[in-house]
Amino acid sequence: MTFVVTENCIKCKYTDCVEVCPVDCFYEGENFLVIHPDECIDCGVCEPECPADAIKPDTKKGLEDWLALNKDLSKVWPNITKKRPHDPEADDFNGKPGKMPLLSREPGEGD
Ligand code: SF4
Ligand code: F3S
Repeated sequence: MTFVVTENCIKCKYTDCVEVCPVDCFYEGENFLVIHPDECIDCGVCEPECPADAIKPDTKKGLEDWLALNKDLSKVWPNITKKRPHDPEADDFNGKPGKMPLLSREPGEGD
């Protein structure tokens, strides 16, 4: 089992989640974060920290595609462990449906 970052993180990327992860298994893209499923120890502490409610356990039904995406992108994106100020537009995108087409596969800065 692992936790998975899902659609509502796209263009929100609040980064509160990275501060609490005990094993630093978040990886950063331009407008989205992912969890490395082989590094996550399933502690669950990141789930309630996300203001966008974007982090889910992979035991939840229908997350297979998101799990695959987290796995693939965590191999090529840089590690992020420190929270940083989010984009001013983040609150406008929080809760917007259909954000998948806005997902950038470009890597973020990491830290
Ligand atoms: Fe990190 Fe725990 Fe969240 Fe997994 S569940 S990503 S180990 S904080
Ligand atoms: Fe994304 Fe939520 Fe973390 S919006 S960056 S999963 S705090």
